[in-house]
Amino acid sequence: MNKLPKELPNIEILEEKDKRLRMKSKDVTFPLPDEDIKRIHDMMDYLEMSQIEDIREKYDLRAGMGLAYIQLGIAKRIFVIVYEVEEGKFERYVVVNPKIKSTSEEMVYIAEGEGCLSINRPTEGIVPRHARMRLTAFNEYGEEYDLRIREELSVAFQHELDHLDGILFTDKIDPKNPYKNQNKYRSI
Ligand code: NI
Repeated sequence: MNKLPKELPNIEILEEKDKRLRMKSKDVTFPLPDEDIKRIHDMMDYLEMSQIEDIREKYDLRAGMGLAYIQLGIAKRIFVIVYEVEEGKFERYVVVNPKIKSTSEEMVYIAEGEGCLSINRPTEGIVPRHARMRLTAFNEYGEEYDLRIREELSVAFQHELDHLDGILFTDKIDPKNPYKNQNKYRSI
């Protein structure tokens, strides 16, 4: 269990129209400066707090499970994911300089649609994502690790990986036919 701060960390998230979201982020070198390590922990605290109903309501937040550095206007290849594995139990992932090793052929989509803390409007449509993937990345202390992920977590990682290349999930939806090829993919 992570000890959450008493107050919400000060995280300002860029909105959809901000051109910086379109930048391609760059790999970082280690060691990361202390301010980055603090920022990474703040981002994860923020995400975890956004998923806890009382805190979310207190601060009028939207729930989010992933956040990329570029959403704060910083073009470094870093993102974090906070995944609620069971009620009130959260897993944290710090992902720095990630490299995709393999992806499944099978594609899935989130039935209720994806969301993004930078996109504050209702959206419609589905985004096909690999059901499973393997990747390597570094944590905030420069330690390399391998990861195999699947289902919702795999979708969340692909969403954040796209942010590193300036891509938003809405780019992947055809506005004329937002449910195109839906029957080719498995819904989750
Ligand atoms: Ni996003």
